[in-house]
Amino acid sequence: MPGAIHAEGLVKTFGDVRALDGVDLDVPEGTVLGLLGPNGAGKTTTVRVLTTLLRPDSGSAVVAGIDVLKNPNEVRRSIGLSGQFAAVDEYLTGRENLQMVGRLYQMNARVAKIRAGELLDRFNLAEAADRPAKTYSGGMRRRLDLAAALVVSPPVMFMDEPTTGLDPRNRQQLWEVIQELVRGGTTLLLTTQYLEEADHLADTICVVDHGKVIARGTADQLKARTGGERVEVVVHEPDEIGPAREVLAAYGKGDVTVAEHTRKLTVPVTGGAKLLAEVIRDLDSRGVEIDDIGLRRPTLDDVFISLTGHAAEVADDSDDGEQDARPQAHGRKNRKESVK
Ligand SMILES: Nc1ncnc2c1ncn2[C@@H]1O[C@H](COP(=O)(O)OP(=O)(O)O)[C@@H](O)[C@H]1O
Ligand SMILES: [Mg+2]
Repeated sequence: MPGAIHAEGLVKTFGDVRALDGVDLDVPEGTVLGLLGPNGAGKTTTVRVLTTLLRPDSGSAVVAGIDVLKNPNEVRRSIGLSGQFAAVDEYLTGRENLQMVGRLYQMNARVAKIRAGELLDRFNLAEAADRPAKTYSGGMRRRLDLAAALVVSPPVMFMDEPTTGLDPRNRQQLWEVIQELVRGGTTLLLTTQYLEEADHLADTICVVDHGKVIARGTADQLKARTGGERVEVVVHEPDEIGPAREVLAAYGKGDVTVAEHTRKLTVPVTGGAKLLAEVIRDLDSRGVEIDDIGLRRPTLDDVFISLTGHAAEVADDSDDGEQDARPQAHGRKNRKESVK
């Protein structure tokens, strides 16, 4: 399989941390695998092993038909990598950085220049193109790093949290670039903390936690695990929680959960919008004033909760991308403490 990724039993420990605890992966050629998990789950370590930057303690991997442990140099020639460890030369301008990458890949100078120009436009870096990269903000660097990974389109690409730290507009644009890349036949392994991103881009999703794949499937398959849709109601006054609970219990297909401090009640339902209208009418007739009500279809976030019993802690850095927003503030230890 020239473009496939296959890994078996990858284990990597750092001291007493088992960063990878037996990871198996299969990415058929031309498909996108989303490796989804919170900070410290083992995503970057997986990418580093598969891209030959790190040797696992045990396990094996084949990328683009080449054994990662036996022939790392050959693997490197067949892959592209962008992410937390890729290199941008600070002293070169954005344009020079991209041209240099093209030259490294044996493009002639003219072609490299054209390609650099296209990518600078694409990633909204045209204005800053002739400034040294060291003057770039975190979000701009990240875009430059991604552009550098796309100068050539190798058969297998790895992207480690490609959109972390990008603002919504740049994220959307990057998603389009990624989809285009994949339409061209590239096999992609992408890591993300963003559930909607995996949903949007990946054919298959592997949910990782504590160095293990805890679930795999399509977004729909994973969503189905949470048991379908729910009605969520936020009541206006705390003393309305009681009557609202009774109403929801009558319509629900399971237990009503209550978050007292936010006055939010949730119950699994079937019946969709029609049922929602009935619930509203019933709440109204009981004199319950509602601040908010909605029908929620499960997100991958819900999947994570149903799989692990805790929420995926997603670094909230999505809205102003122009800062360095790499989410490395909390490792696994922090996360564990915070869910106690
Ligand atoms: N070079 C390293 N030295 C020590 N511990 C590491 C190193 N790299 C990763 N780890 C630890 O391994 C675990 C997985 O890390 P990582 O793969 O970076 O997770 P993710 O990319 O999903 O956030 C974390 O607990 C992290 O602190
Ligand atoms: Mg990481």
